[in-house]
Amino acid sequence: MSASFPARRLRRLRKNEKMRNLVQEVLFSTNDLICPVFVQEDLKERSFVKSMPDIVRLPLSEVTNEVQEIKDLKIPAIMLFGIPSRKDDAGTGAFVDDGIVQKAITHVRKNFGENIVIMADVCLCQYTSSGHCGILKGNTIDNDTSLETLANVALSQAKAGVDIVSPSAMMDGQVKAIRHILDENGFTDVGIMSHSAKHRSSFYNPFRDAADCAPQFGDRKTYQVPFTNPREAMREIESDIAEGVDIVMVKPALAYLDLIAETKKSHNIPVSAYSVSGEYALVKGAAQLGWINETDIMSEILYSIKRAGADMIVTYFAKKMAAHLNK
Ligand code: PBG
Repeated sequence: MSASFPARRLRRLRKNEKMRNLVQEVLFSTNDLICPVFVQEDLKERSFVKSMPDIVRLPLSEVTNEVQEIKDLKIPAIMLFGIPSRKDDAGTGAFVDDGIVQKAITHVRKNFGENIVIMADVCLCQYTSSGHCGILKGNTIDNDTSLETLANVALSQAKAGVDIVSPSAMMDGQVKAIRHILDENGFTDVGIMSHSAKHRSSFYNPFRDAADCAPQFGDRKTYQVPFTNPREAMREIESDIAEGVDIVMVKPALAYLDLIAETKKSHNIPVSAYSVSGEYALVKGAAQLGWINETDIMSEILYSIKRAGADMIVTYFAKKMAAHLNK
């Protein structure tokens, strides 16, 4: 009869919670989370983002409270996004010393010192009249003109006290241009987490509500990576590493787990994943309809991103996930 016994009994190690804890392979801690913060110039009171339930745009005066809450939840880092009062062709609001993000950085640094890692988005689409991530020449987005502006954005954030700048414009050479201007000005300790493999994705649509940055004509296909091209995405990662990036990113996350895994396998560099607005909206929408359990799905998705190989995750669920983990 013994020949009919199962050769392996994987259920042995699943028999109770303590046993399951003992053999748990993928761990998730609040230290793996980066929390996005939207701050809007000249805003009187916080305003909710329609397509991203529970996500708010904050006036500068509320940033301290928000960061305190994030810090109390044991989340180590924030990612700042600014929404300026005025847009122009040069994206001026993105690099002036008294821009909304620069003010927010100064504010947070003054109130929290080294007790929170301050990251800031380096892009132009919230600040340009065109809503594009670079500077226009005629009807095309001019790569090398955009590089100068992006470098100035990073420098202005460094002066304000940022820890890590996070270029997301997908201009060729943006990491090199930013590293160069930072070093030249003595900001050798300011790091770069590039949105390296940032795909042209419909998962960003709710963010455009949040940050008011929809392109006014055309789309972002001439600069973001097509989702059909995984090897091209890996070339973006390689380029950023060659240019001196400190942390690479795959974005979005859930539909791109293959690239997270590939990046982790091929490169000895920290890998971040950005679980974007559309990923958040899908879960929130279905949860509001009562079709799924929000906390369970959130947790399963974020663990899957870690399991694929992400060392850290930018997610709109950061506070909720941290509260869940701290329980
Ligand atoms: C700006 C930027 C975008 C996102 C992050 N930075 C929008 C875009 O490229 O259209 C998307 C983030 C999200 O959807 O959560 N370049």
